[in-house]
Order: sequence, then structure tokens, then C-alpha cells
Amino acid sequence: MPIVERLRKKFRELYGQEPIVVAAPGRVNLIGEHTDYNEGFVLPGAVDKRMYIAIASVAEPAITIYANQFKESYTFNPTEELQPVTGWMNYLLGVTHHIKAAGKTIGGAQVLIDGDIPVGAGMSSSAALCSAYGFALNELFSLGLTRMELAFIGQKTEHTFVGVKCGIMDQFASLHGKRGHVMKLDCRNLEYEYIPFEFPDHKIVLVNSMVSHSLAGSEYNVRRQQCEEGVGILKKSYPAINSLRDVSLEMLQEHHHELTPVVYDRCWYVVTEKDRLLNGCEALKRGDLQAFGKLMIATHNGLSKQYAVSCTQLDFLAERAGYIEGVMGSRMMGGGFGGCTINIVQTEAVEAFTHQIQRSFETLFQVTPEVYVTQIEDGTHVVVGDEVYH
Ligand code: GLA
Repeated sequence: MPIVERLRKKFRELYGQEPIVVAAPGRVNLIGEHTDYNEGFVLPGAVDKRMYIAIASVAEPAITIYANQFKESYTFNPTEELQPVTGWMNYLLGVTHHIKAAGKTIGGAQVLIDGDIPVGAGMSSSAALCSAYGFALNELFSLGLTRMELAFIGQKTEHTFVGVKCGIMDQFASLHGKRGHVMKLDCRNLEYEYIPFEFPDHKIVLVNSMVSHSLAGSEYNVRRQQCEEGVGILKKSYPAINSLRDVSLEMLQEHHHELTPVVYDRCWYVVTEKDRLLNGCEALKRGDLQAFGKLMIATHNGLSKQYAVSCTQLDFLAERAGYIEGVMGSRMMGGGFGGCTINIVQTEAVEAFTHQIQRSFETLFQVTPEVYVTQIEDGTHVVVGDEVYH
């Protein structure tokens, strides 16, 4: 049974009423990694894997949630002061808290969650959960929040309830996605441009390293601090700079000796990634996937060596992909320390690619990596009827 139909049926069984259903996608990011919190550009797209929230209101001040993936329920009073807890419900508590902090009133609700975004695979299932739930509350209680405001509420939830000082890319992408397009987002002023990604002869294929990145929050925050440390030191010579966005390679090289080798490497990666993204956008607009693929490989090398957010499995997947016919480019994607590689593969080569990468990974790591052939789809939306997704 298609997922939305199953969700509505389950909701009726659990709560005896008809829900509103909201779908929020996970994301891929073509290039521009670890640039969002450095006020750089990113190039994400929403994908055909989603978190779903079914929701209906009730008179009493209680929000009851059933998470179908975990077969667990949780109830809280939205009018009380909410504190972080551990577990999936933490995201919903955080979003509720931050919607209230924005001056909005939330009543009681019955909620059912389901989804098909692999958790811990670097496809932003948590951002999608926050987007789906925030969007659903916004619809149900006519709160009048914009998509951008909902994205910030999701980001604040990560910062304050989860403890990951993430950028805005994941939440933005889940809420603003557009079928057949990636988004060139300027994380400094939040202006964005939709760029068509319509290459019928190519697919975006994710390969899951099967290393869950969920424990990587603290290292992620360390990278952010290292970038800030670099900016703090360079600011003494260039008072006008506010972030690595304002730093050129020349400026960085000139002050090499003032930074520790580690901080220099981190800054070097971010500064060079800015240019790769701009060149990548030009390559896409020209339809030059060959050039784009080369940039992806350079990004992977920077993330692995200078930024040090890769792992053995991801390095293996990215390198191995380079030897398989029909692969334009491959690199680790997202925060790192696990999760997926993103690969651009000729459509006709996808089957052989999948087979080869899975077999060689199995030989080395004794586990079969999951492979997801993705489509770029629309962002968070209310699902009409039993809309069937492929
Ligand atoms: C995670 C974060 C994003 C971004 C990426 C790396 O997905 O949530 O904000 O920093 O890592 O590009």
C-alpha cells in the first residue's frame, strides 16, 4: 500500500479522525559542503525520500505523537515550558518550543509520523522531521509562518535542543525544494536561485557507507569553532571580514604563519570550496557534467584531507567510484563522519555501478551498502488525497 494511504489508515485506527498530511523531503547537496555556516553558497536539492506528518486537532491541551518507525508514542502539554529530552521526540519538542517563542499559540493535536528517509545517512531526516512538523502545525493552527521562518525554527531546534550548531542548508532545502531544480543559496543574505538539474541521461545516486553519523555532532561543532578561530585571527589584519566568505586564498596564504596548521587547513578547504561551488554552477548551466564531476572529486579530497570529516568507508566509496565506467563524479555528502557519497552516474551505467560498488565494499567491510537512485522533487507540502509517489 502506498505510504500516504497507509498513513491515513493508521491515523484513523489510532485516533478515529481524518488528518491533514504533510510531506517534507530529505536533501542532497551537489557541491558547497560545510560552507553554509561560513556564510558561503550551497547547492542542495530536495529528494524523493520524505518524512510524513499526519495531524488533527483536539480540544484538550495535549500533543500526542505516534512514531510509526519506532512503534513508540509520546505525549506532552504544549502550553507548558518544554525542555530537551533524548530521542526522536526531542525534535518535536524543540519545534513546538521555538514556534511558541515566535509568539504563536499552539493547541492540542494528534500526530502520526512515518517516513522513508534513512536515518543517520546524511540525507537530513531530522531537518525533514522538523520541517514536516512545523509546517503541519502552521497549517493546522493557521500560524502564518513563512517557509524561511520555519527553516530557522528547525535550525534553532538543532542548536538548542539537539546541540548541533548546524547551518541553514538542510532546513532551507527541505522547505524550498523544487522538482527538477537545485537551489543556489547564498547563506549570507538568504537569496537563492533555482538552477535546472535536468539530465535525463544521468542520475544522482547515493551510496550509504552504513556508518551512522549521528554521534558526529561534537566534531561538527569543532569544525565550526576552528573556522571562527581562523576568522578571529585574520580579522586583526582585515577588520572588515565577518566570515570565511570574506576571505580570499591570497589573504589566507599571506597569514599562514599566524594560524595553527589545523586551523589553516580548515580555512583553506572552505575558501577553495567557495570557488568550486561558483565554478560548479557555471558548469551545470553549460550542461558540462564532466567538469562538474571533477569539482566533486576535488571537494571530496578537501573534505577528507584538509577538513577531516570523512571516514575510511566514505573514502573507499568515493575512490572506487572513480574507477567505474559512467561515473562523472563522486564525493562524501553532508556533515560527514559517515552517511552517503553522492555520485553522478550515466543512467545506463547505474545498474553496473550499483553492482560493482556494492560487491567491492562488501569484500572489504562485510556489509552491503544501500544504494538510492534519487530524483529531485518538490519541497515540504500538504499532500492532497493519497498522492502516490514513485
Ligand atoms: C550538515 C548540516 C548543514 C551543513 C552540512 C555540511 O548537514 O546540517 O548545515 O553544514 O552538514 O555542508
